[in-house]
Amino acid sequence: MPTALITGGHAGIGFECAKQLASRSRYNLVLAGRSMEQINAAAQQLRTDYGIRVSTLELDTSSLGSVRDAAAKFRAMLDSGEVDSFQALLCNAGGYFRRPLSYSKDGYETTFATNCLGHFLLIELLIERMVDDGRIVFTASGTHDPDTADGKMVGIVAEPDAIALANDGKNGKRHLSAGKRYSTSKLCMILYAYELHRRLRRAESSIASIAFDPGSVPETGLIRTIPKPLQWLAKTRFMKWITKRVGITQGSIGFSGASLAKVAADPAYGNASGRYFQSNDDALRDTRSSKLSYDEQLALKLWNDSKTLVRLRPNEGSVELL
Ligand SMILES: NC(=O)c1ccc[n+]([C@@H]2O[C@H](COP(=O)([O-])OP(=O)(O)OC[C@H]3O[C@@H](n4cnc5c(N)ncnc54)[C@H](OP(=O)(O)O)[C@@H]3O)[C@@H](O)[C@H]2O)c1
Repeated sequence: MPTALITGGHAGIGFECAKQLASRSRYNLVLAGRSMEQINAAAQQLRTDYGIRVSTLELDTSSLGSVRDAAAKFRAMLDSGEVDSFQALLCNAGGYFRRPLSYSKDGYETTFATNCLGHFLLIELLIERMVDDGRIVFTASGTHDPDTADGKMVGIVAEPDAIALANDGKNGKRHLSAGKRYSTSKLCMILYAYELHRRLRRAESSIASIAFDPGSVPETGLIRTIPKPLQWLAKTRFMKWITKRVGITQGSIGFSGASLAKVAADPAYGNASGRYFQSNDDALRDTRSSKLSYDEQLALKLWNDSKTLVRLRPNEGSVELL
């Protein structure tokens, strides 16, 4: 049976997606994340409910050391046969980090380290082990687009400059707001998705690289760092009615999770590489991302700077993609 590795697959949209991959697509799963107690409980539930094989992998996407360790363990799982046919990699883990500004173990701003750099390195370390028609899905967000209500509400994106984002607020300099850090990290995920798509096509690989926006889903853990009354308000029917009226993309745990699973595994999305899919109002649409996200020069610079930041070693990474 094919296997999907999903980061943050034990909670929120990721867990719903995991259930769909197990039940509809009959994928075996590897749940990767940092909260092992919750991950083990989710893995057991999936095994019991769907009779699939589920492995677990300790992975903190904000730490380059943890990503390297997890990639080595995953390769060992493939070598030992615990996991076979590595079909899908879902870069789904992510966070919205409010004040105070914080930095990862490697000294990089937490949002950019968690949402972007960890996944960038994970892909570099694992892509060579994927099957020919594998799929990599980047969970992005409509907030990446400053021309939409999503982008305006959460924070207009800053320049997707990896070095500046990793060092945001250092040396007493003014830092970006939490909303801008989040939106910009999601723009970077789309730029990675498109740049990877171009590199894969140049290398004549048939692996797909796809960007996905689940839409606004306030019921997940994503907004756990905002004040409790605001969390409560965001989940009310009244607030959903308002956000819909102003044009915020409307997701739901069930539909958005199922949509992520579709993009990652459904044969209908076999030709989806280099595209952006959005879950809105119970419809999954192939849509345009922001103007900036199609800027190939920006994407190339982001890719090369990210490579420098993750300190890719000569024996790491895929030769064609470097
Ligand atoms: N909910 C929305 O409105 C919305 C809208 C657009 C895009 N998204 C994106 O959808 C994805 C899933 O989010 P969600 O809404 O389902 O929120 P969620 O319930 O908070 O799930 C996020 C997942 O990411 C994991 N994670 C966070 N930091 C991590 C780290 N350093 N290392 C490993 N795993 C980490 C979390 O694990 P822990 O349990 O360890 O924290 C959790 O499993 C995210 O990329 C988010 O940005 C969400």
